[in-house]
Formats: sequence, C-alpha cells, structure tokens
Amino acid sequence: MQTSDDNIVGVVALNICWEDLAEVKSLAVREDYQAKGMGRQLVEHCLSEAVVLGIYRVFTLTYQPKFFEKLGFKLVDKSSLPHKIWADCLKCPKFPDCDEIALLVEL
Ligand SMILES: CC(C)(COP(=O)(O)OP(=O)(O)OC[C@H]1O[C@@H](n2cnc3c(N)ncnc32)[C@H](O)[C@@H]1OP(=O)(O)O)[C@@H](O)C(=O)NCCC(=O)NCCS
Repeated sequence: MQTSDDNIVGVVALNICWEDLAEVKSLAVREDYQAKGMGRQLVEHCLSEAVVLGIYRVFTLTYQPKFFEKLGFKLVDKSSLPHKIWADCLKCPKFPDCDEIALLVEL
C-alpha cells in the first residue's frame, strides 16, 4: 500500500498454496500508519482476491491472533493444515517448533 507521495506504508501477500487453500503472509503496516484500518484493508484485499480466484479457505500463521479474529479468522490446530504448506518452513530456525498461531477463514 502506497501513500500519494509513493511511500510504501503497508505490505501483504496472498500465497496460493493449493487449488482450494491460500495463505495471508508478510503482513506489516508502518508503525506511524497503524490503527487507521490499513491492516484490515490489506487483509480484506487478499480475501477478495482469493474469492476471485475461487479459493474459499485462507489461513495465516501469526503472533497477532486477535487482529485476525477481528477479521473473521478462527483459531485452528496447525496439524489440520496440509503438510505441503510446511515446505516454506524447512529453512526456518524455529522449525519444527514453530510458535506461530494458525487461524483460518472460510469465505
Ligand atoms: C498487526 C497489524 C498488521 C495491524 O495493522 P493495523 O493497520 O494497525 O490494524 P487496523 O487499524 O486495520 O485494525 C483493524 C482492527 O483490528 C484491531 N487490531 C489491530 N491490531 C491488533 C492487535 N495486535 N491485537 C488485537 N486487535 C488489533 C484494531 O483495533 C481494529 O479493530 P476495530 O475494527 O474494532 O477498530 C500491525 O499492527 C502491524 O503491522 N504490526 C507489526 C507486524 C505484525 O505483527 N504483523 C502481523 C502479521 S504476522
């Protein structure tokens, strides 16, 4: 997300994992732009994009579960997510003891 003078103040990515599953990842809003609805807008943009692509299940792994709960995500057990999604995690120093919290929204 950019301001009118082209500064980037928020980022997010929708990672397509599978034909029916995507992940919201790399969400961040610049500190001085937080609490103005930008994080919500970024996530809602991802969810709209998922629907356009015909993907109705979107998950996230996060340390901010309350924020995602406000946007309709529900806590899920990480083990309920397909094993294939962990391919990205293999190089993470925390693997396999990831302490991020998994949430999923059904659209
Ligand atoms: C988490 C983050 C993306 C939220 O972005 P934001 O632009 O400040 O959030 P918004 O203003 O869109 O907030 C939307 C709603 O969530 C709430 N909210 C925001 N951050 C929250 C948090 N950490 N915990 C609980 N609720 C939160 C807001 O109060 C708001 O509620 P409301 O609709 O009832 O008013 C932002 O704080 C951030 O970039 N943090 C650092 C990076 C990070 O932790 N990313 C998390 C993804 S892994």
